[in-house]
Amino acid sequence: MAAPAKAVQAGFEPVPWQINEAPHRWDVTPPDIYAEDRWQPVFAEMRRQAPINKINNSGFGSYWNVTTHKAIQHVEALPDIFSSSFEYGGISLAPMNEPDMEGSDRVILPMFIAMDRPKHTEERRVVAPAFTPAEMERMTGDIRRRTGELLDSLPLGTDFDWVDSVSIELTTQMLAILFDFPWEDRRKLTLWSDYAGNIELFRTPEGRQARLEKIYEMGAYFQRLWDERKQKGEAPDLISRMIHSPMKDMDANEFMGNLILLIVGGNDTTRNTMSGYAYGLNQYPQEREKLEQNSALIPNAVSEIIRWQTPLAHMRRTALCDYDLFGAPIQKGDRVALWYLSANRDESVFERADDIIVDRENARRHLSFGYGIHRCVGARLAELQIRILLEEMAARRLRINLQQEPERVPACFVHGYKKMIVNLSRY
Ligand code: HEM
Repeated sequence: MAAPAKAVQAGFEPVPWQINEAPHRWDVTPPDIYAEDRWQPVFAEMRRQAPINKINNSGFGSYWNVTTHKAIQHVEALPDIFSSSFEYGGISLAPMNEPDMEGSDRVILPMFIAMDRPKHTEERRVVAPAFTPAEMERMTGDIRRRTGELLDSLPLGTDFDWVDSVSIELTTQMLAILFDFPWEDRRKLTLWSDYAGNIELFRTPEGRQARLEKIYEMGAYFQRLWDERKQKGEAPDLISRMIHSPMKDMDANEFMGNLILLIVGGNDTTRNTMSGYAYGLNQYPQEREKLEQNSALIPNAVSEIIRWQTPLAHMRRTALCDYDLFGAPIQKGDRVALWYLSANRDESVFERADDIIVDRENARRHLSFGYGIHRCVGARLAELQIRILLEEMAARRLRINLQQEPERVPACFVHGYKKMIVNLSRY
């Protein structure tokens, strides 16, 4: 859809804005901010002083920081002005198909998270039926059984890595089932997803090459799987949805791109929420006790943990025309980073926003799943998996005891943990 040449917002109070040159403390792309878990005061300062601000010439190019709940929702509600398309660089600050950036990756697999209307609507419609409430109901028993079996296999009182043994294992099993992926190879899904979603790899030619190689490896594997299944005339649920889609033009490339999207989308996000649950409740023992005493709080606690963790720190858009965003002069072609991590700590929406409060009344207002036409299509499945994990932990009266500070993912996109040594006890 063609965007207007210039759009100006009416009826909104302007907010203070700024433009700064990197290096600058508001450049929130450097990975160590996240590895060292010290992003909170930086975003808080931006929200106070200039909630919309531009950083010129960062390691990931020039971009606008959008840091408040209200402004992010506003941008996401205007998908015809703020594009997600790979045509202009896509959905993260990683340099992908950027006409003005040297070394920007040009190998793009089409996927609907990085498409605009009307194509986005068409492709999203193909996979959305796999995530309806009825489908969730159908999957519940299986998820509960697998989660229970895994928890029963864990040692009591002995240290182990929660990330590897629980978060990765449960989410990878889920994807293997969703795609009917060969069980013994399921950790390949984790490996591929980690490469595909690792925005830090874009900083060097070697990193970009390594990432591409993994993506090709994944593509070849799925191609084989697809061909075998088509020959036998069988196809698992989600894959068959795509193969038999009424859309005439979902070609092999798009099929592959959307598969990658589902694998990456469903993998480290859910994984890092499961790890965020382990870490977060250790930071707030009173809240943990509240939850242990009242399992009716679990559904709300799931939303609160997703808010608090915010597994994807940002999504990016590209302005298709000049736009006056609460007074900030966004120009056509500008890159706009929507920091969910900051919106979810916005004090004007969430009281004591940095704290976990398991019975927080408005926990569901979080923006961890985004907002608008691209809002996470797998949100129900993610919530279901996490809710069942908490319920099965409660059924066994299991408590997680953190043994040392976790190792965190050093990146401004995937926000999570690489390793977390814990042990389990009963309460
Ligand atoms: C889109 C987060 C789990 C598949 C998104 C977006 C976010 C997100 C932020 C983009 C929203 C936007 O641009 O406005 C999360 C989080 C999860 C999670 C935090 C877990 C806690 C899943 C799961 C799946 C999935 C389990 C599937 C198995 C997708 C897909 C999209 C998407 C396909 C693209 C939707 C579109 O463009 O229309 N997710 N996600 N996600 N997610 Fe998730």
